[in-house]
Amino acid sequence: RKSSRAKEKKQRRLEERAAMAAVCAKVEAANKLQDPLEAFPVFKKYERNGLNVSIECRRVSSLEPSTLDWAFELTKANMQTLYEQSEWGWKEREKREELRDERAWYLVARDPDTAPVAFSHFRFDVEAGDEVLYCYEVQLESRVRRRGLGKFLLQILQLFWGDLSRFWGAPSTQMKKVMLTVFKHNLGAFQFFREALQFEVDPTSPSVSGCCGDDSSYEILSRSTRFGDPHPGGSPCGGCCH
Ligand SMILES: CC(C)(COP(=O)(O)OP(=O)(O)OC[C@H]1O[C@@H](n2cnc3c(N)ncnc32)[C@H](O)[C@@H]1OP(=O)(O)O)[C@@H](O)C(=O)NCCC(=O)NCCS
Repeated sequence: RKSSRAKEKKQRRLEERAAMAAVCAKVEAANKLQDPLEAFPVFKKYERNGLNVSIECRRVSSLEPSTLDWAFELTKANMQTLYEQSEWGWKEREKREELRDERAWYLVARDPDTAPVAFSHFRFDVEAGDEVLYCYEVQLESRVRRRGLGKFLLQILQLFWGDLSRFWGAPSTQMKKVMLTVFKHNLGAFQFFREALQFEVDPTSPSVSGCCGDDSSYEILSRSTRFGDPHPGGSPCGGCCH
Protein backbone atom coordinates (compact mmCIF):
# COMPACT_ATOMS: atom_id res chain seq x y z
CA ARG A 1 0.00 0.00 0.00
CA LYS A 2 2.73 2.33 1.03
CA SER A 3 4.56 1.75 -2.21
CA SER A 4 1.46 2.40 -4.35
CA ARG A 5 0.91 5.72 -2.54
CA ALA A 6 4.55 6.56 -3.13
CA LYS A 7 4.14 5.69 -6.80
CA GLU A 8 1.07 7.92 -7.12
CA LYS A 9 2.93 10.76 -5.43
CA LYS A 10 5.87 10.34 -7.74
CA GLN A 11 3.56 10.25 -10.78
CA ARG A 12 1.85 13.46 -9.62
CA ARG A 13 5.21 15.13 -9.13
CA LEU A 14 6.29 14.12 -12.62
CA GLU A 15 3.06 15.44 -14.10
CA GLU A 16 3.42 18.75 -12.25
CA ARG A 17 7.01 19.07 -13.41
CA ALA A 18 6.00 18.37 -17.03
CA ALA A 19 3.18 20.94 -16.85
CA MET A 20 5.58 23.57 -15.46
CA ALA A 21 8.16 22.77 -18.15
CA ALA A 22 5.47 23.27 -20.81
CA VAL A 23 4.52 26.67 -19.35
CA CYS A 24 8.17 27.76 -19.17
CA ALA A 25 8.73 26.61 -22.78
CA LYS A 26 5.78 28.77 -23.85
CA VAL A 27 7.24 31.83 -22.12
CA GLU A 28 10.64 31.16 -23.69
CA ALA A 29 9.04 30.84 -27.14
CA ALA A 30 7.06 34.07 -26.66
CA ASN A 31 10.36 35.83 -25.96
CA LYS A 32 11.77 34.68 -29.29
CA LEU A 33 8.95 36.10 -31.41
CA GLN A 34 9.14 39.20 -33.54
CA ASP A 35 7.07 42.36 -33.34
CA PRO A 36 3.43 41.35 -33.98
CA LEU A 37 2.42 44.92 -34.77
CA GLU A 38 4.30 44.70 -38.09
CA ALA A 39 1.44 42.69 -39.53
CA PHE A 40 -1.23 45.07 -38.19
CA PRO A 41 -0.24 48.64 -39.15
CA VAL A 42 -3.55 49.95 -37.83
CA PHE A 43 -2.18 49.40 -34.29
CA LYS A 44 1.04 51.26 -35.07
CA LYS A 45 -0.69 54.64 -34.99
CA TYR A 46 -2.91 56.42 -32.54
CA GLU A 47 -4.63 59.40 -34.11
CA ARG A 48 -7.46 60.37 -31.81
CA ASN A 49 -8.43 63.13 -29.40
CA GLY A 50 -5.83 65.54 -30.82
CA LEU A 51 -2.95 63.03 -30.59
CA ASN A 52 -0.94 61.83 -33.54
CA VAL A 53 1.56 59.24 -32.35
CA SER A 54 3.29 56.20 -33.79
CA ILE A 55 3.67 53.03 -31.74
CA GLU A 56 6.50 50.53 -31.93
CA CYS A 57 7.14 47.25 -30.14
CA ARG A 58 10.75 46.40 -29.29
CA ARG A 59 12.90 44.12 -27.19
CA VAL A 60 15.04 46.13 -24.79
CA SER A 61 18.15 45.01 -26.68
CA SER A 62 17.07 47.03 -29.74
CA LEU A 63 16.03 50.17 -27.86
CA GLU A 64 18.29 53.24 -28.13
CA PRO A 65 20.02 54.17 -24.83
CA SER A 66 18.45 57.65 -25.09
CA THR A 67 14.94 56.11 -25.11
CA LEU A 68 15.80 54.00 -22.06
CA ASP A 69 17.13 57.10 -20.26
CA TRP A 70 13.92 58.94 -21.12
CA ALA A 71 11.83 55.98 -19.85
CA PHE A 72 13.70 56.05 -16.54
CA GLU A 73 13.31 59.81 -16.11
CA LEU A 74 9.60 59.66 -16.91
CA THR A 75 9.08 56.78 -14.47
CA LYS A 76 10.95 58.73 -11.82
CA ALA A 77 8.93 61.90 -12.42
CA ASN A 78 5.62 60.01 -12.34
CA MET A 79 6.33 57.48 -9.61
CA GLN A 80 9.06 58.49 -7.16
CA THR A 81 6.68 60.09 -4.62
CA LEU A 82 4.24 57.19 -4.86
CA TYR A 83 7.08 54.69 -4.20
CA GLU A 84 8.28 56.77 -1.26
CA GLN A 85 4.78 56.60 0.23
CA SER A 86 4.89 52.76 0.08
CA GLU A 87 6.77 50.07 2.02
CA TRP A 88 9.04 49.64 -1.01
CA GLY A 89 10.65 53.11 -1.05
CA TRP A 90 12.22 54.54 -4.21
CA LYS A 91 15.32 52.61 -5.26
CA GLU A 92 16.85 54.37 -8.19
CA ARG A 93 19.48 51.79 -9.15
CA GLU A 94 17.00 48.88 -8.96
CA LYS A 95 14.50 50.72 -11.15
CA ARG A 96 17.17 51.45 -13.75
CA GLU A 97 18.22 47.80 -13.76
CA GLU A 98 14.60 46.62 -13.99
CA LEU A 99 14.01 48.79 -17.06
CA ARG A 100 17.21 47.45 -18.68
CA ASP A 101 16.64 43.78 -17.83
CA GLU A 102 17.18 41.57 -20.87
CA ARG A 103 13.67 40.10 -20.52
CA ALA A 104 12.07 43.54 -20.98
CA TRP A 105 9.83 44.31 -23.95
CA TYR A 106 8.59 47.79 -24.78
CA LEU A 107 5.74 49.53 -26.50
CA VAL A 108 6.89 53.09 -27.22
CA ALA A 109 4.63 55.87 -28.50
CA ARG A 110 6.32 58.77 -30.30
CA ASP A 111 5.07 62.13 -31.48
CA PRO A 112 5.55 63.27 -35.13
CA ASP A 113 9.07 64.56 -34.27
CA THR A 114 9.89 61.02 -33.02
CA ALA A 115 10.17 62.23 -29.43
CA PRO A 116 8.84 59.50 -27.12
CA VAL A 117 5.70 60.45 -25.16
CA ALA A 118 4.57 57.18 -23.57
CA PHE A 119 5.74 53.62 -23.01
CA SER A 120 4.84 50.28 -21.52
CA HIS A 121 7.50 47.89 -20.21
CA PHE A 122 6.22 44.31 -20.18
CA ARG A 123 7.52 40.78 -19.89
CA PHE A 124 6.40 37.23 -20.44
CA ASP A 125 6.58 35.35 -17.19
CA VAL A 126 5.23 32.50 -15.10
CA GLU A 127 3.04 33.52 -12.17
CA ALA A 128 1.43 30.93 -9.89
CA GLY A 129 2.00 28.30 -12.58
CA ASP A 130 0.46 30.27 -15.46
CA GLU A 131 2.03 31.92 -18.48
CA VAL A 132 1.24 35.61 -18.23
CA LEU A 133 2.10 38.95 -19.74
CA TYR A 134 3.26 41.11 -16.81
CA CYS A 135 2.94 44.83 -17.42
CA TYR A 136 5.76 46.36 -15.35
CA GLU A 137 5.09 49.95 -16.37
CA VAL A 138 2.70 52.08 -18.31
CA GLN A 139 3.89 55.68 -18.19
CA LEU A 140 2.63 58.69 -20.11
CA GLU A 141 3.95 62.24 -20.22
CA SER A 142 1.33 64.39 -18.49
CA ARG A 143 0.55 66.32 -21.71
CA VAL A 144 -0.73 63.19 -23.47
CA ARG A 145 -2.90 61.79 -20.66
CA ARG A 146 -6.69 61.41 -20.65
CA ARG A 147 -6.88 61.04 -24.43
CA GLY A 148 -7.26 57.27 -24.55
CA LEU A 149 -3.60 56.46 -25.28
CA GLY A 150 -3.01 54.53 -22.01
CA LYS A 151 -6.09 52.43 -22.72
CA PHE A 152 -4.94 51.81 -26.29
CA LEU A 153 -1.50 50.56 -25.12
CA LEU A 154 -3.08 48.17 -22.62
CA GLN A 155 -5.50 46.94 -25.28
CA ILE A 156 -2.54 46.14 -27.55
CA LEU A 157 -0.99 44.00 -24.77
CA GLN A 158 -4.25 42.17 -24.14
CA LEU A 159 -5.01 41.63 -27.84
CA PHE A 160 -1.67 40.68 -29.34
CA TRP A 161 -0.41 38.32 -26.68
CA GLY A 162 -3.84 37.12 -25.69
CA ASP A 163 -7.16 37.37 -27.43
CA LEU A 164 -5.98 37.97 -31.01
CA SER A 165 -2.71 36.06 -30.96
CA ARG A 166 -4.07 33.03 -32.79
CA PHE A 167 -4.43 35.22 -35.89
CA TRP A 168 -0.74 36.04 -36.13
CA GLY A 169 1.38 33.74 -34.09
CA ALA A 170 2.04 30.40 -32.59
CA PRO A 171 0.29 29.05 -29.49
CA SER A 172 3.33 30.33 -27.58
CA THR A 173 1.92 33.83 -27.72
CA GLN A 174 -1.29 32.86 -25.99
CA MET A 175 -0.76 34.27 -22.53
CA LYS A 176 -3.48 33.44 -20.00
CA LYS A 177 -3.69 36.87 -18.47
CA VAL A 178 -2.30 40.37 -18.35
CA MET A 179 -1.09 41.22 -14.83
CA LEU A 180 0.27 44.30 -13.11
CA THR A 181 0.92 45.79 -9.70
CA VAL A 182 -0.63 49.11 -8.74
CA PHE A 183 -0.32 51.21 -5.60
CA LYS A 184 -3.66 51.64 -3.85
CA HIS A 185 -2.75 55.30 -3.26
CA ASN A 186 -2.21 55.87 -7.02
CA LEU A 187 -5.91 56.68 -7.21
CA GLY A 188 -6.08 57.76 -10.86
CA ALA A 189 -4.22 54.67 -12.09
CA PHE A 190 -6.28 52.44 -9.79
CA GLN A 191 -9.49 53.80 -11.31
CA PHE A 192 -8.02 53.49 -14.81
CA PHE A 193 -7.25 49.77 -14.40
CA ARG A 194 -10.18 48.67 -12.22
CA GLU A 195 -13.00 50.69 -13.75
CA ALA A 196 -12.04 51.75 -17.27
CA LEU A 197 -10.14 48.58 -18.16
CA GLN A 198 -12.03 46.20 -15.86
CA PHE A 199 -9.02 44.50 -14.32
CA GLU A 200 -9.84 42.27 -11.34
CA VAL A 201 -7.94 41.91 -8.08
CA ASP A 202 -5.79 38.83 -8.75
CA PRO A 203 -5.96 35.82 -6.38
CA THR A 204 -2.22 36.31 -5.75
CA SER A 205 -2.79 39.88 -4.50
CA PRO A 206 -1.97 40.29 -0.79
CA SER A 207 -5.52 41.50 -0.02
CA VAL A 208 -6.90 38.15 -1.29
CA SER A 209 -4.13 35.70 -0.51
CA GLY A 210 -3.29 37.28 2.84
CA CYS A 211 0.29 36.23 2.29
CA CYS A 212 1.92 39.63 2.86
CA GLY A 213 -0.49 40.94 5.46
CA ASP A 214 -3.53 43.03 4.56
CA ASP A 215 -1.82 46.36 5.06
CA SER A 216 0.25 46.29 1.87
CA SER A 217 0.08 49.46 -0.14
CA TYR A 218 -0.42 47.68 -3.46
CA GLU A 219 -2.75 45.31 -5.26
CA ILE A 220 -1.95 42.83 -7.99
CA LEU A 221 -4.54 43.17 -10.74
CA SER A 222 -5.18 40.97 -13.75
CA ARG A 223 -7.43 40.48 -16.74
CA SER A 224 -7.85 37.06 -18.28
CA THR A 225 -7.45 36.66 -22.01
CA ARG A 226 -9.57 34.18 -23.95
CA PHE A 227 -6.91 31.57 -23.15
CA GLY A 228 -7.18 32.06 -19.41
CA ASP A 229 -9.59 30.98 -16.75
CA PRO A 230 -12.33 33.60 -16.41
CA HIS A 231 -12.71 32.66 -12.72
CA PRO A 232 -9.13 32.11 -11.68
CA GLY A 233 -8.43 30.08 -8.59
CA GLY A 234 -4.69 29.59 -8.66
CA SER A 235 -2.35 29.13 -5.79
CA PRO A 236 -2.77 31.71 -3.06
CA CYS A 237 0.66 33.26 -3.32
CA GLY A 238 2.22 34.23 -6.63
CA GLY A 239 5.62 34.60 -5.06
CA CYS A 240 5.16 38.22 -3.99
CA CYS A 241 6.57 37.57 -0.52
CA HIS A 242 9.49 35.27 -1.39
C1 LIG B 1 -2.57 55.89 -15.58
C2 LIG B 1 -2.30 56.27 -17.03
C3 LIG B 1 -1.42 55.20 -17.68
C4 LIG B 1 -3.65 56.34 -17.77
O1 LIG B 1 -3.44 56.63 -19.14
P1 LIG B 1 -4.34 57.73 -19.92
O2 LIG B 1 -4.01 57.67 -21.34
O3 LIG B 1 -4.19 59.02 -19.22
O4 LIG B 1 -5.80 57.18 -19.64
P2 LIG B 1 -7.00 57.06 -20.71
O5 LIG B 1 -7.19 58.39 -21.38
O6 LIG B 1 -6.75 55.89 -21.59
O7 LIG B 1 -8.19 56.79 -19.71
C5 LIG B 1 -9.25 55.90 -19.95
C6 LIG B 1 -10.21 56.02 -18.78
O8 LIG B 1 -9.56 55.62 -17.57
C7 LIG B 1 -10.01 56.43 -16.48
N1 LIG B 1 -8.91 57.26 -15.98
C8 LIG B 1 -7.70 57.48 -16.57
N2 LIG B 1 -6.93 58.29 -15.81
C9 LIG B 1 -7.67 58.59 -14.72
C10 LIG B 1 -7.44 59.40 -13.57
N3 LIG B 1 -6.28 60.04 -13.39
N4 LIG B 1 -8.41 59.50 -12.64
C11 LIG B 1 -9.59 58.86 -12.80
N5 LIG B 1 -9.88 58.07 -13.88
C12 LIG B 1 -8.93 57.95 -14.82
C13 LIG B 1 -11.11 57.32 -17.05
O9 LIG B 1 -12.33 56.60 -16.95
C14 LIG B 1 -10.69 57.44 -18.50
O10 LIG B 1 -11.76 57.73 -19.39
P3 LIG B 1 -12.20 59.29 -19.58
O11 LIG B 1 -10.96 60.09 -19.81
O12 LIG B 1 -13.10 59.21 -20.78
O13 LIG B 1 -12.90 59.67 -18.30
C15 LIG B 1 -1.61 57.68 -17.15
O14 LIG B 1 -2.41 58.62 -16.49
C16 LIG B 1 -0.22 57.76 -16.54
O15 LIG B 1 0.77 57.54 -17.23
N6 LIG B 1 -0.14 58.11 -15.24
C17 LIG B 1 1.15 58.30 -14.55
C18 LIG B 1 1.89 57.01 -14.38
C19 LIG B 1 1.11 55.94 -13.68
O16 LIG B 1 0.53 56.14 -12.62
N7 LIG B 1 1.12 54.76 -14.29
C20 LIG B 1 0.47 53.58 -13.77
C21 LIG B 1 1.43 52.88 -12.88
S1 LIG B 1 0.71 51.43 -12.23
